[in-house]
Amino acid sequence: MTATDFDKLAKIYEAEKISPWNDLYERPNSIQLMGEVDGLTVLDAGCGGGKHCADLLAKGATMHGFDMSEKMLAFAKDALGDQVEFKVADLSQPLPYQEGQFDRILCALALHYLEHWSTPLSEFYRVLKPGGKVVISTHHPFMDHALAGGEAYFAHTLIEDSWKKPDGTLYVCYWRRPLTQMMDEIKAAGLEVETIQEPMPVPETEEQFPDAYKKLTTQPRFIFFVLRKLS
Ligand SMILES: C[S@@+](CC[C@H](N)C(=O)[O-])C[C@H]1O[C@@H](n2cnc3c(N)ncnc32)[C@H](O)[C@@H]1O
Repeated sequence: MTATDFDKLAKIYEAEKISPWNDLYERPNSIQLMGEVDGLTVLDAGCGGGKHCADLLAKGATMHGFDMSEKMLAFAKDALGDQVEFKVADLSQPLPYQEGQFDRILCALALHYLEHWSTPLSEFYRVLKPGGKVVISTHHPFMDHALAGGEAYFAHTLIEDSWKKPDGTLYVCYWRRPLTQMMDEIKAAGLEVETIQEPMPVPETEEQFPDAYKKLTTQPRFIFFVLRKLS
C-alpha cells in the first residue's frame, strides 16, 4: 500500500475511540514489552496517529516517530505537538537517522504492509545502539493463513481484506509470510530474538467487547517479537 492509500484511511482509522484489537490488546502488550524506557531515546517506526508515542512519552522516553502517511502524522502532531520529533519516512528505504541513535525501537502493526523486511530490519539494526532492542508487532502467520482460506501456509503472498470500523469500512492489503520466513529475515539482519509472544487482551475487554475477547483468547491474531542488537 502507498502513502496515498494510508492518507485515505487515516480519518476512519484514527476516528475509532476504543478498538479492542488496538487499544485493549496490541498497544498494552507492545508497551509492556518495551519495558522501562525512562530516560531512553526511542523511535516509533510507522507511528500512525501517535498513540504509542504518547504512552512511551508518559513513561519518560525521549520520542521520535515516523510514518510515510502525512495524514496519519497530522493526527500524531495534533495530539503531541513538538513533544515528539516526527518525520515522514518510508520503512522500505534507508531511514533518516544516524547510526546508533536509539536505545529502543517500536514497530507496531506496520511490517505486514511490506513485501520484504530486509531493509527495515537492517535499518533498525543500524540505528540501534549496541545492546538496544526493537519490539515488533505484526499479523500472526496463522491468522493470515486462515484469512487466505487455510491453504498454502508457506506462501508469501498479498492478501486483500476489509475492516469494519465505526465510521466506515477500510479496504487494505498486506503481505503474509510463514513464521520461518520472519525468523530468516530477522536473523539475516543480525538481530537476536529475545522473546516471541502471543499475548492476551487486557481483562476489561471481556466486559466491553465480549466477541472480540472470545476471538482474542481462542485464536492467534498478532505476534510480538523482542529483538536485540548484540554489543
Ligand atoms: C495499522 S497502522 C498502525 C499505526 C500505529 N503503529 C499503531 O499501531 O497505531 C499502520 C501504519 O503503518 C504505516 N506504514 C505502512 N507502510 C509504511 C511504510 N512503508 N513506511 C512507513 N510507514 C508505513 C501506515 O501509514 C500506518 O500509519
